[in-house]
Amino acid sequence: MNRVLFVCLGNICRSPSAEGIFRKIVQAKGFEDAFEIDSAGTGDWHIGHTPDQRAQQAASRRDVDLSALRARQLSIEDIIYHDLILVMDRRNRADVFSLAQPEHEHKIRYLLEYSEQYDGLEIPDPYYGGTHGFDLVLDMIEDSCKRLLNSIIE
Ligand code: 4NP
Repeated sequence: MNRVLFVCLGNICRSPSAEGIFRKIVQAKGFEDAFEIDSAGTGDWHIGHTPDQRAQQAASRRDVDLSALRARQLSIEDIIYHDLILVMDRRNRADVFSLAQPEHEHKIRYLLEYSEQYDGLEIPDPYYGGTHGFDLVLDMIEDSCKRLLNSIIE
């Protein structure tokens, strides 16, 4: 079993989008029985909320339904439980590191590290931007998630 956790700040934009997109890619390749896929936010402002409407709309244009997801906050247990913790930006990484014990630090990676199409490490926070920001974020997530699955199954 591969336990994969996507982490962002609010768990209403980037990480639920990554959860939904990665799940779709995993299902399309027939690997769903080999994965547990989840997401969480480092912040607590949006606990219990559905993904941002703009994220849901951008995802639905790619046939990904995020409506059943609810935001939750990252816990120390999440870091112990999951095999791979994929963060969106430097702030997320610092926040996850501050919760993680040294023996779990190797699990923490930038999601965008897996992308071939996009350079850099950060998937920008689209919360205060426009719709275009969400489409770009989903492009970055989708490319990264395809390579992520390849890297896990290789
Ligand atoms: P996310 O986006 O981390 O991709 O879910 C954000 C959502 C909400 C806030 C910040 C980022 N906020 O400050 O409320």
